[in-house]
Amino acid sequence: MSAYIDREQTQAKHDILRGYLHKLAYKVLRGGWDIAYVDGFSGPWKPETADFSDTSFMIALEVLKEAQRIIYEQTRVRRKVRCFFSEKSAAAYQQMVATVAPFHRPDEGFEVKTFHGEFVDAVGEIRTFIGKAFPLIFIDPTGWTEYPLTIIAPLFDYPKCEVLINYMYGHISRFLDHPDEKIIASFDHIFGGPGWQSRLDPTMKKGPAAEKLFRETLKATGKFRYVVSTRIDKSTQDRPHFYLAYGTKDPAGLKAFRETEYRALREHARNRSAAITRMRDERANAGSLFADFEAEQKEASIDDLVHEQKALAKEMLLEMLAVAPAGIVFWDPRRHASGLHVARDQRERRVRGIGQDGQNREHLGHRRAQAHRPNHDQARVRLTPLAGGAERPCPLLVASYCTATNGKGAKSRIMTHSPSHPAASASCAKQA
Ligand SMILES: C[S@@+](CC[C@H](N)C(=O)[O-])C[C@H]1O[C@@H](n2cnc3c(N)ncnc32)[C@H](O)[C@@H]1O
Repeated sequence: MSAYIDREQTQAKHDILRGYLHKLAYKVLRGGWDIAYVDGFSGPWKPETADFSDTSFMIALEVLKEAQRIIYEQTRVRRKVRCFFSEKSAAAYQQMVATVAPFHRPDEGFEVKTFHGEFVDAVGEIRTFIGKAFPLIFIDPTGWTEYPLTIIAPLFDYPKCEVLINYMYGHISRFLDHPDEKIIASFDHIFGGPGWQSRLDPTMKKGPAAEKLFRETLKATGKFRYVVSTRIDKSTQDRPHFYLAYGTKDPAGLKAFRETEYRALREHARNRSAAITRMRDERANAGSLFADFEAEQKEASIDDLVHEQKALAKEMLLEMLAVAPAGIVFWDPRRHASGLHVARDQRERRVRGIGQDGQNREHLGHRRAQAHRPNHDQARVRLTPLAGGAERPCPLLVASYCTATNGKGAKSRIMTHSPSHPAASASCAKQA
């Protein structure tokens, strides 16, 4: 029987950690780097297995050990792997230390260091431990006060660095309007300082807006090039339980994360469906009362999700359209707006919605964005002149567009030639 029955959300978190770490480790070690994995909140936390195979520290140790062995067999070079685990609870720390000790084999280039105490107090020690290795920092707290971003920022101050943070969405959202000023001030640490309320996106509901602000703050603090997040729902509720925020300085990292996320979320959807069936069986006698409750939950959740995803999609689409001189982009909502979480009909509706309301006179050179025949994979979106207005060139910087589209995926999806703006086309061709 699965160790994750009734805690499928933990399974999703562990699947993403395992899948991503696997990809990262092979890439980093094969690329001639050492790797430093830091688990700031290592647990164990409510494990269901005697060998701790359902804990993040054990998952990481097994993935990294195996990656090091295979890369060594392939290249005959043994890259170093370092793991740092910090844990505050004395009881959990003792269990963790006893379990990870056998993995500490410095003679084989595999080092394990443990820290008993608060993660924030380990920052200096962690930096020394990372040395010149490629760091992946995993932050999986029980709340939001234990990882003040400005204090842990030195952990991100490397040319290459990745981070995974469990943003406790459900928990945080319940306190965003709390009357206690101290609680409101405690959010300063993850939302970029005092006055964070004024930085929330006013077009979004408070929960999603706060999660977005968190990603923006993390991006700025860690100087990450990309920060994205994955929504994880509880087993039997269609509401976000937490978001796994992922930060990277490398487009290849983002691609690898998205691939891992896709697989993990499909598995999560299957597991949740099984959990819901199980719960239905158990509550068969509750009948229609429960069915009504479930329907309400689903509806509220989809509204939140669509609202949030639509805002994100619109932002990205406007950006792409504004810099596509021919005024046409091929828009894949799954790729461009984390549309993974939205069912097919929702994605189609969303693309149409953007087509209808996606106009921004200043950015789009007085044109309107319209989506044509959207399907579940891709829509062709083009700009057409607004009624009564003359078409004007888009004013955004062509140079920054070209740089941004040098990555394979984006470049192949955006048409850059422009009969009416040959200078812009030439500039793009030269830089691409
Ligand atoms: C959610 S659990 C971690 C679960 C673990 N990452 C996993 O997936 O198996 C959070 C852990 O962090 C510990 N913790 C709480 N506050 C901490 C702090 N300030 N510094 C370090 N550990 C802390 C808790 O005792 C708990 O074991």
